[in-house]
Amino acid sequence: QSGIITIDPGYKNTGSCESAITYLDGEEGILRYRGYSIEDLAEKADFLEVCYLLIFGELPNKEQLHKFHEDIKAQSIVAEDMKKILDGFPQSAHPMGVLSSLTSALVAFNASSVNVSSEEEMYKAIVKILAKFPVLVAWAHRKKEGLPLEYGDDSLGYVENIVKMMFKKPNKEYKKNPIVINALDKLLILHADHEQNCSTSTVRIVGSSHAGLFASLSAGISALWGPLHGGANQAVIEMLEGIKNDGGDTKKYMAKAKDKNDPFRLMGFGHRVYKNFDPRARIIKKAADEVLGDLGVEDPVLDIAKGLEKEALEDQYFVDRKLYPNVDFYSGIIYRALGIPTEMFTVMFALGRLPGWIAQWREMRLRKEPIGRPRQVYIGENLRPFLDIDKR
Ligand code: SDX
Repeated sequence: QSGIITIDPGYKNTGSCESAITYLDGEEGILRYRGYSIEDLAEKADFLEVCYLLIFGELPNKEQLHKFHEDIKAQSIVAEDMKKILDGFPQSAHPMGVLSSLTSALVAFNASSVNVSSEEEMYKAIVKILAKFPVLVAWAHRKKEGLPLEYGDDSLGYVENIVKMMFKKPNKEYKKNPIVINALDKLLILHADHEQNCSTSTVRIVGSSHAGLFASLSAGISALWGPLHGGANQAVIEMLEGIKNDGGDTKKYMAKAKDKNDPFRLMGFGHRVYKNFDPRARIIKKAADEVLGDLGVEDPVLDIAKGLEKEALEDQYFVDRKLYPNVDFYSGIIYRALGIPTEMFTVMFALGRLPGWIAQWREMRLRKEPIGRPRQVYIGENLRPFLDIDKR
């Protein structure tokens, strides 16, 4: 093999690309989208503005934002035949599996391979998926809940429309709840992009073969599903529930998390890049107190989460390994207070990450990145003669 191949499992020390979209500083716990701090965006922007910012690089002015939203609304109908695919799933199907299948199926109903040399065609594909993905998310939720599907309402804001499609009770008037809308809007902003994480790298590498945008996103959804990645937000709540049902003894679970022979990990803790507090976790922890207070919701797992965090931050094993709460540690507590079932938590993560995946896919294609094809170090058998079956 020509040249030296260095193996870097999990790409811990490998950069895959240059990107102008998101900046992370793991030591300082800094996160910026196109140069704007996550703290500013979470406080002052709304999710649709952040979608525009991530994808096109600038915060939109009033006209640009209005046109963006109008162009999205114009694409919000999902082909009736897509419901037949949804009907094919049992109600017990995990919504992430439903979502990735429906997203792939969109390919069958829409021009999948985007002619990226045409900015106009690229724009059309982008507004199409920003319009249809929330419908698929709402459909996955209503399928899980055994509720009739709801359609969007063009008079509503982008995130409010998602809330309506997910939560409107059959045969009841839709009632606006600004607390739910604002909380979800902030959570979606906090999940919108995170440089070259596992699912974004998946979207990029699938897109590098010039697979279409929707097919690349479907691959990203599958990567996000893993409990080490986006699936952690569901695993955190299941862990906290388990601790609560087991008498709330956090010390026992801290010991398990440090026991090398025990596969148990403190879900929602640790991060490949952040060796300090995940800035998103700080914002979500504060929002959890506010949202539960505003909604008048008492959730015992919030106290368990805070107890666990306090213990971990004082524990030498965790301090030595710079393990802090990450974005997934508190987000599930807010989703639950908003009435979102646990199995839908990672779907909500995918909904938030959609603009980041799109922005990264678009950047990769516009920069004409080569197809992703790493090498390996071969450790298998040397050359050997074929054996007939009766000699094996
Ligand atoms: C997300 O990449 C991103 O940006 C992802 C994300 C995004 O926005 O896209 O931020 C979203 O995925 C957040 C992470 C959600 N996952 C979890 O909360 C699952 C629990 N955390 C981990 O499994 C782990 O911390 C990872 C996967 C997040 C990071 O893993 P790394 O970087 O590969 O680190 P590692 O597994 O090599 O761990 C280093 C050490 C090990 O101990 P030693 O072998 O050195 O003695 O820290 C220990 C690990 O055993 N460790 C943990 C731990 N996480 C790491 N020990 C107990 N509990 C944990 N949670």
